[in-house]
Amino acid sequence: MCGIVGFTGREGALPILIRGLYSLEYRGYDSAGIAAFTKEGLKVVKTCGRIKNLEDKIREQGGLDCACGIGHTRWATHGGPSDSNSHPHLGGKDGHNSVAVVHNGIIENYLELRERLEAHGYTFHSETDTETVAHLIDYLHTGEQQDLAMTVLKAVSRLRGSYALGVVSLDRPDEIVAARRDNPLVIGLGEGENMIASDVTAIISRTKNYIILDDNEVAIVRPDSVVVMNEFGDVVEKTVQTVTWDLSAAEKGGYEHFMIKEIMEQPKAVADTVRPRIHDGQIAFEENGLTDERLREAEHIHIIGCGSALHAGIVGKTVIEQMARVRCSAVVASEFRYENPIVGEKDLCIVISQSGETADTLAAMRQAKAAGAFAIAIVNVVSSTIAREADGVLYTWAGPEISVATTKAYSAQLSALYLIAARIARVRGCISSEEERAVCEELHGLPDRIRETLTCKEHMQYLATLYANRSHVFFLGRGLDYAAALEASLKLKEISYIHSEAYAAGELKHGTISLIEEGTLVVALATQPALYEKTVSNIREVVARGASVILVTNDDFDGDESQCQQVVRLPKCMNRFSASLSIIPLQLLAYYIAVQLGCDVDKPRNLAKSVTVE
Ligand code: G6P
Repeated sequence: MCGIVGFTGREGALPILIRGLYSLEYRGYDSAGIAAFTKEGLKVVKTCGRIKNLEDKIREQGGLDCACGIGHTRWATHGGPSDSNSHPHLGGKDGHNSVAVVHNGIIENYLELRERLEAHGYTFHSETDTETVAHLIDYLHTGEQQDLAMTVLKAVSRLRGSYALGVVSLDRPDEIVAARRDNPLVIGLGEGENMIASDVTAIISRTKNYIILDDNEVAIVRPDSVVVMNEFGDVVEKTVQTVTWDLSAAEKGGYEHFMIKEIMEQPKAVADTVRPRIHDGQIAFEENGLTDERLREAEHIHIIGCGSALHAGIVGKTVIEQMARVRCSAVVASEFRYENPIVGEKDLCIVISQSGETADTLAAMRQAKAAGAFAIAIVNVVSSTIAREADGVLYTWAGPEISVATTKAYSAQLSALYLIAARIARVRGCISSEEERAVCEELHGLPDRIRETLTCKEHMQYLATLYANRSHVFFLGRGLDYAAALEASLKLKEISYIHSEAYAAGELKHGTISLIEEGTLVVALATQPALYEKTVSNIREVVARGASVILVTNDDFDGDESQCQQVVRLPKCMNRFSASLSIIPLQLLAYYIAVQLGCDVDKPRNLAKSVTVE
């Protein structure tokens, strides 16, 4: 999704802006640009493609010697990727541009505004909604006595939709005005310099201190001061936050890609998420706002998320229902918000999001809260919007996740859900305190089991050489294995572009089996002993139609594996936590296949890490 960075200081803004843009790359983008104040005035350089293209273009144009500027990585929504659709956009009547704007979000009433601005003599050079904002600010910014921040306040009151904005104007060459509604924006606080950014990764090389802009606020950012105002123009006091991790956590540290680094970091992510919540054989959440009483009385649990977060939720639903016998559903956030869901005041809503900013997840949570449910967020990014708006937060301490395809945050989400499941089971009397202690021991040992599982790395690298040429892959499993299969399939398709589907093993024969032909790769997951035989039967069905099968199963699997070309065995763990292990070889398989195919593993085409639009 689009990324914003802005810097105002004494000198040398360009390398800082470029570095900021590189650190926003992981969000996903297709074009990039910078607007900066040079001796010649306000200059904009922007281009389709990678940041490297932007650097080349800036160099060809003689550089950008500046102390203040704004930069942007664009993920196309209105109008395809092109130089003219790239941000920043200039606002003004031809030849007299007074402002430049970068924007993340969607302006819903842009067509109506565009028509009105055209009637006032403005010419549009792009298909974007953002150019409307730039011209609107120019239109409202009448005369030098006008304060840019007040103009921006006036302009945003006419916008429908969502935005994080960075605005610079000719009359204040050292000032950036920032505004936000439903899209994240932070302000980095330095010494004699300040920054704006979509997230802290873009400021961390300069400062660890930042403030979070809230909805409908506007900030005036200058080298020596930051002033934040609410929608009425009143100054508001903000709390200064500090980033808890350092720059090295967001660097590759010798690995070829962030994805493999993050796969290898999973034992730590799970340990850091689980261990602080276990005290003397008991799980404690009280500090997270999730009381035993809430858990005991929950009538229905709604788990909400998108993508891998939803997949973690599907595993969580199964584990919660199995352990605590409470009705639970896992729903796609974008569906939940429009399906008029039945939510009661005694319901618990578990919202899962790595970024804590996913627009659909946030909207679904707001809706559940409005219906009276108690919302607990499982979130990785500290102080993100979902974390701040939820009634309680259970942070996954996975550290910054840069690869678009999530691995360690997903694993940390699973472990947070196990903790919730076990605690609900305990407070509802479904398990004894001894059983809770046993579960705690198991969860304590889970990072070691994951570490052991990671030793299949070379094996998976080898399997990738055998199967990277397949055009279709099916992932089969039952129950928890089906839930894990959904995530395994997503991992493969998102980074390797190989078509893959996850199917409940028993369901395949009801139509989809017609797609199985000689050489189709089927990955079968079988980690639940009670279902071994059933899955083996399903393996026979696909083998009979020519499929090659990789079986992922437990160390002690005693079923018939003679039909399978490859068998990957997992260390022993409690069956209900098997999804934490079975996903590991399949993340590695997806990774090595994508590498083998020469794909841009960390930044797959068309994808964004943090999806802040509907
Ligand atoms: C995007 C990412 C996925 C992620 C999903 C939810 O689609 O590409 O990897 O699972 O958003 O993101 P969240 O930040 O809410 O977990």
